[in-house]
Amino acid sequence: MPPLFPDAASTMATRVDALYFFLLAISAFFGLLIAGLIVYFALKFHRRTAEQIGARIHGAMSLEIGWTVIPLMITMVLFVWGASVYFAMAYPPEETLNIYVVGKQWMWKFQHLDGQREINELHVPVGRAVKLITTSEDVIHDFFVPAFRIKADVIPGRYVTIWFQATKPGRYRLFCAEYCGTKHSGMIGEVVAMEPSEYQTWLGGGAAEGSLASAGAKLFQDLACNTCHRPDAQGRGPVLEGLFGKTVMLQSGETVTADEAYVRESILQPAARVTAGFQPIMPTFQGLVTEEQLLELVEYIKSLQALPQVQTR
Ligand code: CUA
Repeated sequence: MPPLFPDAASTMATRVDALYFFLLAISAFFGLLIAGLIVYFALKFHRRTAEQIGARIHGAMSLEIGWTVIPLMITMVLFVWGASVYFAMAYPPEETLNIYVVGKQWMWKFQHLDGQREINELHVPVGRAVKLITTSEDVIHDFFVPAFRIKADVIPGRYVTIWFQATKPGRYRLFCAEYCGTKHSGMIGEVVAMEPSEYQTWLGGGAAEGSLASAGAKLFQDLACNTCHRPDAQGRGPVLEGLFGKTVMLQSGETVTADEAYVRESILQPAARVTAGFQPIMPTFQGLVTEEQLLELVEYIKSLQALPQVQTR
């Protein structure tokens, strides 16, 4: 017989399961209690002769309070508990291993920061928080790894992050959980959780294509971004060194945090949110760069943070 529940192979799995079993237990308890009482009352109070007429009851305060307060307390417990699990899932820890995921009809593409690329198979170390930054090339997909209890829509034009920390080595199934076309059911793969030492070996054995950031650096030159975005502040575009993660003042007077989504938007729709003090002269690169190239550029711009320190040495 197949197991009733999938493997519990991430730090979140036990927390999700505990909440889930609690919900099941509460539902089973009240379900049985109510069904049992219906049967019991039907037997005990059924009409025995034609003359029998039930007594009228005009309210019972203690009963009213009881069946209001008890469910209220149970739902409040569920609310607080559920919210704490939700926040733990929604906010990754500070230190994470970042991996990019691009969904596409009908495959999963993974890009490691060191340059390794995989399709429908993702290698990760156990005991380390992994953050997946996901996007889609075409339609909405959904990244679902039951053993890790993680599931999130992968949306075109947006970066959705998911995180997990695998707790035991093994191969775990990955599904697309959003109907995305003819071969949706074939959009499956495996997450391979490895001991850290094995993972290092695996990383070392990958293709020597260079890191994502270095691929981005090359692209940055090829697309001639560097003619306007210069580190010496003499260019027609903003300086990108040290930009990532900072707050940017916009022409409109608003501010924005320079995160992955903002960098992506600035490449595809440069006029959408222009940095204060600059002209909206940048051309769009919509259709000229793929989702994967966008990720390379994002990583390159992220990597520019450390540059000034290196230069002053
Ligand atoms: Cu991708 Cu369903």
